[in-house]
Formats: sequence, structure tokens, C-alpha cells
Amino acid sequence: MMVNGGGLLDQRKDIVEMKHANKVRYVRKPIKKKYRSYKKTKDPKVLRQLFDSCRQVFKGPGTVPPHSDVDKLCSILDKMRPKHVGLSKSMHFFKSESAVKGAPRVAYTTIYQCDEFSICIFFLPANAVIPLHNHPGMTVFSKLLVGKMYIKSYDWVDHHPMPMPPCSQLRLARLKADGVVKAPCETEVLYPTRGGNIHEFRAITPCAVLDVLGPPYSKEDDRDCSYYKDLPLSHGEESESDNLRWLEEIGVPENSKMDRIEYMGPQLIEFKDGVYIC
Ligand SMILES: [Fe+2]
Repeated sequence: MMVNGGGLLDQRKDIVEMKHANKVRYVRKPIKKKYRSYKKTKDPKVLRQLFDSCRQVFKGPGTVPPHSDVDKLCSILDKMRPKHVGLSKSMHFFKSESAVKGAPRVAYTTIYQCDEFSICIFFLPANAVIPLHNHPGMTVFSKLLVGKMYIKSYDWVDHHPMPMPPCSQLRLARLKADGVVKAPCETEVLYPTRGGNIHEFRAITPCAVLDVLGPPYSKEDDRDCSYYKDLPLSHGEESESDNLRWLEEIGVPENSKMDRIEYMGPQLIEFKDGVYIC
């Protein structure tokens, strides 16, 4: 969910490097051990496969990958496990479900980013929330690697006989998803106009979500992130069974603030003639 200078993450002014031990962090020693077993797996370069496919699939702003390319990326992401990005379910973060003081903060790390796509991981402590937000003009693949979370998502309804409300800040949307997902699970895909482009994550247990965004957020390219509050239709407007809600754009919520941490998994290193993993 991020790119240079824009997006859900970078637009925040208060991003800080994670320094405190009581939150998510990669641990060098265990990860080195993991790397050894990682190299022995039958498919040791899953991250490289993901990267290569992203390069082929994402053609830049204004484009949406065709079904065949979406299937290709999903097939790679579906087989991705925590170890492929240097994580382990045994890490302290994923075992810690005790309540924290104040609202639990989400952390993120970026594996790779360019103009066409970005690959990042979000870490949600138990009870943390990534509030309802959109992905303008973007196709986003979300793979829950660890944990259990509640996902709610909406798509805009632009052509509907419903009279517009007096408040122009409200826009009609239809509920697309409203349920719990638990890792390991299949990859969720959202598109610019369908698939649940506006979504909210609520962690039930500590979670790690691998996100691939194409193109990434960009204020310069008019793909900034907006936040919303969902409101029920008023009595007499429409039956709730149609899953219609009003979405009201709001300012950046306090609980949307995230901490940036260093990525310590297999590195994608760019050379003149290509990208390698080490
Ligand atoms: Fe998102």
C-alpha cells in the first residue's frame, strides 16, 4: 500500500522507524536459520517468481491486468508462506495476543516499489484496525500470511435510482465482503471498480498481510488514499437486504497511523541487468 511520496502510508506525516522491542520486528538470528531451510525448499525463489510476474503483469497507471495475469499472480501468492518473506509464526509478535495500552498500531515494511507496482507487508497486532479506505485506479492482491482478521469491503454504486442525499459527502456503495478470513487462505483481489475496492481490516489475532499494489498510491498521479465511514440507509430509502450503505469521506483517522519497520526477509536487489534475490 505504498510508493514514493504518496499513498496510504507515505502520506502520513508521523511515520517513524520502529525501535521498540514490544512491537513487531524481524529478528536477525532466527531469520538466518530460516533462510537455510528456505533454500532447501522445493521452491526457494517464490519471492523472485512474484517479482518477475509483477514486472510482466503491471503495465502502469490506467491499466488493469487481464484475467490470465491475475490468475498467474494469484497462483504464486496462494503458495506464499511466511518463510518466503523471512517471517515465522513462532515470532514473538504473532504469539502476543495480550492487550496493549492504547490503540494497537499497525506496522508495515516495503519489500519493493517502483512506478508500476509495490510489494509490502502489513503487521496488525490483535485488535488493530486499518480503517475503511479506497484504492483509486488500482488492482490490489492481498494475501493473509499469518493470523485471523475481519474484512469488510465495498464497491461504489454509480448508477442507481436512489436519490442522492442532501449531503454531497455521501456516496452509495454495496457491501462486497463482510466476514472473517484465517491464514492460510487464498489471495483476495480487488480492482478499480469491483472486488471490494474500499475495505477495512480488523485483526482478531496478530496478522501479517502481504499486499501487491499496481499501480501504487501516488498523490502526484491523483491516486491518493481516502478514508470513509459507512452509514446505514435511512428508514424508507432501501431495503438493507440489498447491502447498500452510504459511505462518507472523512479525514485521516487517528488509527490509520502506522509504524515503518525495516524489511529483513529475502532481499530484491536491483542490478543493471536485472534483479536478484539474496
Ligand atoms: Fe487496502
